[in-house]
Amino acid sequence: MIVVKTIPQIELMRRAGDLVGRTLDLVEKTAKPGLTTAELDRIAEDFIRANGAEPAFKGYLGYPATLCVSIDDEVVHGIPGRRVLREGQIASIDVGVKLDGWYADAARTLTIGPISAEARKLLAATMEALQHGIQQAKPGNRIGDISAAVQTFAEGKGYSVVRDLVGHGIGQKMHEEPQVPNFGTPHTGAELKPGMVIAIEPMINVGGPAIKFDADKWTVRTVDGSLSAHFEHTVAVTADGPDILTVATRKG
Ligand code: MF3
Ligand code: CO
Repeated sequence: MIVVKTIPQIELMRRAGDLVGRTLDLVEKTAKPGLTTAELDRIAEDFIRANGAEPAFKGYLGYPATLCVSIDDEVVHGIPGRRVLREGQIASIDVGVKLDGWYADAARTLTIGPISAEARKLLAATMEALQHGIQQAKPGNRIGDISAAVQTFAEGKGYSVVRDLVGHGIGQKMHEEPQVPNFGTPHTGAELKPGMVIAIEPMINVGGPAIKFDADKWTVRTVDGSLSAHFEHTVAVTADGPDILTVATRKG
């Protein structure tokens, strides 16, 4: 069942989304060569709790951390630990919070020092693929319009789209219906209505779309070892069009 939110409920989700945006801004500012991924995770968790919220991922299906930190050929769900960030890496940071009962979820791929031209182009294309998807999140369109917009843009740049993991509805649960694939056919799938809130999250690979899981059962990486990027926003469908909730609207 797809849950439609009221305008006051969307405002509560915007507060959660603001905190997600501010957490990602803090992590982006902090992530430097020499720092461990566990140190980043601690900074994010402390910030989220200091703002009266809970990390949404910690404890979810046994996931042990606040952030997912996925480096280079890792696609998503990299577990923070003793690993040290190195110049030239790309690091996908995914974070969710629960604030006053409402969830928000977003991700961005950060650069650690100077990176290769190949990596820079991948990040720009994945960011732009997400924006193309978001533009389709308006009443009267269908989920397939979002999916197709992401896929067409990413594949048009010569990249491939991960198919085994998808975006999702979000609200009083982190994962709600509908699923939001990053590939598909225009004019198909659930119709978008004002009050629907979805997390759109393209995972884009330089090489092929295939992924595999590490022995830790969480870390997802490309089978061919190619670079992968991930950008995600929580977006409300409104009468006026898409409304991105996971951006910082307050300072600090
Ligand atoms: N952002 C991820 C998603 O959209 C959630 C990470 S899964 C977790 O599904 F288990 F790490 F929480
Ligand atoms: Co998500």
